[in-house]
Amino acid sequence: MEYIIETKNLLKRYGAKAAVNNVSLHVEKGEIYGLIGKNGAGKTTLMKLLLGLANPNSGEISLFGSNTPNEKRRKIGSLIEEPALYKGETALENLRRFAILVPTPEEELHRLLELVGLADVGDKKAGRFSLGMRQRLGLAIAMLGDPEILILDEPINGLDPAGIKEIRDIILELNQKGVTFLISSHLLDELGRIATKFGIMTDGILAEEISAKELKEKCRAFLKVTVSDSQKAQQALLAWRSDLKTEISGNEVHITSRVEDTSEIVITLVNAGVRVYEMRNESIELEDFFIERLG
Ligand SMILES: Nc1ncnc2c1ncn2[C@@H]1O[C@H](COP(=O)(O)OP(=O)(O)OP(=O)(O)O)[C@@H](O)[C@H]1O
Ligand SMILES: [Mg+2]
Repeated sequence: MEYIIETKNLLKRYGAKAAVNNVSLHVEKGEIYGLIGKNGAGKTTLMKLLLGLANPNSGEISLFGSNTPNEKRRKIGSLIEEPALYKGETALENLRRFAILVPTPEEELHRLLELVGLADVGDKKAGRFSLGMRQRLGLAIAMLGDPEILILDEPINGLDPAGIKEIRDIILELNQKGVTFLISSHLLDELGRIATKFGIMTDGILAEEISAKELKEKCRAFLKVTVSDSQKAQQALLAWRSDLKTEISGNEVHITSRVEDTSEIVITLVNAGVRVYEMRNESIELEDFFIERLG
């Protein structure tokens, strides 16, 4: 497998502390990779290393399959922490300044402002922008020059729910056009709905990489059946289908095997003289999965 972003045993120390500790990251082309970790986990530091904004103590970085990443970084757009804006200038004037590095036609600048929802802020100077507006402008700056990869550090920090949805939609739209994303967050909500893969960082270590598909499988639903007598219910179910995977929890039977026609469960139980009070699908909350791992 060739990765569009790959690191091998990347290490970055600040004094005695390893902010990024032997991280081997694997991002495939076309992915929306969500880097999740608590404050201080090392997410920003890892991104800075990828972008060449900080130098690793050891380890390797490969971008677009190249081990000499410097020349490849032009194809990466980024928004790291707060964008450094010219406070006395408008959104458009700011964008023009950053476009000096990546020459861009004026109409494209307008299109970008439109895309991030800043087309109507007019003459307002960036110094008077809200946090959400600064984030939006930062995103527009990151998108200058049609990057193939966007590295976004907590891009929806400070946005209201409507803004979060807008940014999420922009990310999905660009992703459809082939842009690969690496997005950090300490909030699962931000990423849970769009990420195709998750990297879980704790204390500098990339503890786990898991695809959204694998995650769904791990959080798979079980059927919770609340009954009058769970022992008797379990026996009846196993007599009906000996391969059924069941667990008892109080007056509930949890069935983890897949059952096509769940009405057969009810019939089996009622025939065995067990009353069925409730039957519903349960799943481990995504949130619980991460909380357990983030420590
Ligand atoms: N320039 C620096 N000098 C010294 N220590 C640093 C520096 N940058 C980061 N660190 C330390 O490295 C660790 C990781 O920090 P980092 O900012 O990468 O975490 P993060 O996951 O981005 O956190 P947050 O969610 O708060 O943004 C922290 O302990 C931090 O104090
Ligand atoms: Mg950070």
